[in-house]
Amino acid sequence: MDFSEFLDFIQGDQSAPSGKPAPAAPPSAIIGASLSRVDGPLKTTGTAKYAADFHPKNLAYAVPVCATIASGKIGSLDASAAEKMPGVVLVLHHGNIGPLFRSGSGGRNSEARPPFEDEVISYWGQYVAVVVADTFAQAQAGAAAVKVTYVADKFNVSPKLDDAIPAIGEPGGPRVASHRGDFEAAFASAPVKVDAVYSTPVETHNPMEMHATTAVWDGKKVTLYESSQGVMNHLGVMAQVLGVPKENIEVVSLFIGSGFGGKLFPWPHSAMTAVAARKLNRPVKLMVSRKMMFSNVGHRPRTEQRMRLGATQDGKLLALGQDYRNHTSFGDEIRENCGEATPFIYSTANLRVSSALVKRNVGTPTPMRGPGAVPGLFAVESAMDELAIALKMDPVALRMGLDTQTDESTGKPFSSRHLKECLQVGSEKFGWSKYTPAVGSMRKGDLVLGWGVACASWSAGRGVSQASLSLLQNGRIRVSSGTQDIGTGTYTVVAQIVSDKTGVPLDRIDVKLGNSSYVPGPMSGGSTATASVVPSVADAAKAAIKTMLQIAAASKDSPFSGKDAATLAFSGGRIYEKGKDAATGVPFETVLKSANMASADGEGKSGGQGSDTDAKNYSMHSFGAQFVEVEWDPGIAKLRVSRVVSVIDGGRIINKKTATNQIAGAVVMGVGMGLLEETIYDPRNGHAINDNFADYVVPTSADSPEIDVHFLDIPDPQIGEYGARGIGEIGLAGIAPAITAAVYHATGVRVRALPVRVEDLLTSKVLI
Ligand code: MOS
Repeated sequence: MDFSEFLDFIQGDQSAPSGKPAPAAPPSAIIGASLSRVDGPLKTTGTAKYAADFHPKNLAYAVPVCATIASGKIGSLDASAAEKMPGVVLVLHHGNIGPLFRSGSGGRNSEARPPFEDEVISYWGQYVAVVVADTFAQAQAGAAAVKVTYVADKFNVSPKLDDAIPAIGEPGGPRVASHRGDFEAAFASAPVKVDAVYSTPVETHNPMEMHATTAVWDGKKVTLYESSQGVMNHLGVMAQVLGVPKENIEVVSLFIGSGFGGKLFPWPHSAMTAVAARKLNRPVKLMVSRKMMFSNVGHRPRTEQRMRLGATQDGKLLALGQDYRNHTSFGDEIRENCGEATPFIYSTANLRVSSALVKRNVGTPTPMRGPGAVPGLFAVESAMDELAIALKMDPVALRMGLDTQTDESTGKPFSSRHLKECLQVGSEKFGWSKYTPAVGSMRKGDLVLGWGVACASWSAGRGVSQASLSLLQNGRIRVSSGTQDIGTGTYTVVAQIVSDKTGVPLDRIDVKLGNSSYVPGPMSGGSTATASVVPSVADAAKAAIKTMLQIAAASKDSPFSGKDAATLAFSGGRIYEKGKDAATGVPFETVLKSANMASADGEGKSGGQGSDTDAKNYSMHSFGAQFVEVEWDPGIAKLRVSRVVSVIDGGRIINKKTATNQIAGAVVMGVGMGLLEETIYDPRNGHAINDNFADYVVPTSADSPEIDVHFLDIPDPQIGEYGARGIGEIGLAGIAPAITAAVYHATGVRVRALPVRVEDLLTSKVLI
């Protein structure tokens, strides 16, 4: 998969006709309110059920056997000892898994190769067998007893992506992802230049909840309890992989302990578990261990990016070049779209972005929060900081001067771009006027302070979605959609939209998500779920209200019997006659009772980007500016991110609390990306050697800075009725380069290879 196609895929069919922007009705006060998650009590009481929390009767447990070479073939696999062990009921492997198919049009899979398809090994940890037993301990013991020999081949897990590749323009050379003007000539003649290589390491998705599948066959039908960012996509893929009609599969993901992209597309354990359950005619559960998370379920691929910036002395950008490589697996070509934001974030006449792949013996990479843009902007924004220093210009002022209201890669205007305002608000909240640019010039007691800034961007997308809504006789409202809440607050946002449209309070609204048997909803990916699901929910509410008014007028026992439905209105959960006070209306449940009807139903269906706006004629992105303070203690070589201000232009904010939570969480993740996280493959065997939380260090609360989040909250007229673009990924996009800029400001050391290590800083000349 090419990550530049990532958003196209997430959004689905974009062929809907473009029309005039819909005049947006002013929303009620519930839109934009700071509300706790409606599913919060279920989570805090431990009653929310995640994929591994389902314990059907007679459940068996599956534990995989993982390859201990990074490249080669299985020589022999002897399961006879394991099969005789107490409690072991099945050992599945290449020899007996039976038919499993590749998926095509059904949806997006992670690895093209189905599990155990052949005996080829292309990464350490690859599943070679799975042992199923009555208890988890028996399955573990069985897995340890499977004897596998290997015929090992040479392998390559080198983090240096310096493989020989033909030049741009030659056959087999890098792909030119974006191009305008004459980059080479403009760069060559530019009076001020930056030319540097930046790299980002492999990062492993580590959501709190690990992947798991619980598969339950009931005759012909299978229910898969999954931790999935897309139940509909999972359904489509598994139907093809298992060779089962879609109507015989139900995918359930009621709660997800986040995914960060790692749970967008199915991984091999899901099919392995389903096949085991089918063969045994018994429910089977497989939990991916934290260790397996580091080899078998994707990662952010390593990138190396050569940035070349050419500028005038007064800070005009004459040329911008980004030539990058990323690693991919031998099984799949995954292109990290590092040039996602490069072509439009700053004004320049001459630009070229090129992209090349190199193969490594690693599992298949997959999107991680802000795929492409996040590592890409680390390089772009780091180079911008170096340019500001070369020009002796303020880094905020340099960026302000390069702002543009036209997307120069397409010539289209932006639907709503307020990057400058993000920088202005951020400067004010952070206190940037006190910035003194000399290295080591800012102090706080015995500590040296470093300040840095970077801009952020992420594409604004909206996909097709459906929702189904019922006003019920018990006075409650039920709304359902085949999307899911990955922890971001989708349950809550959907409830807010229903409340806005019906006037019914949140505690009378039941939101049903995370089941592929509901009408199809969007994937939770690419920061598009809110923008996609919201219009379909609003439409479903409008349709149900219309039905309700017709029932009120048509039913002979209704208080509105004989009236024309067109003379009736709905507000605050009540039906009333237009022109009269809404408060005098009759509650909808009373009218349903008098009509002897269980419910008034409505279906909503909304198109993708541009289906009800002029989106096609605009370039649509979210923007942000992130300011970071680090504290450097040169006496003991201690570095800490102490303060972050993040200002986001993400369109209208539906829920300030869940939105702030997204951006604050991204700051913490950014501290991990900037200072701590790197998956390291052992050069002796290809094993992800730091495959645990002792060695793969993620930020704790003690590492978390003081975080200040601001939203411009300017509705985007092109994204839909509410003007809400997605947020989530953008929160991460500028943090790491702002950290390395701040580190330079404190220490005088420019770190171009993430993460920053204290040993990188020992050459600092800054002394107290
Ligand atoms: Mo996001 S990388 O689409 O979960």
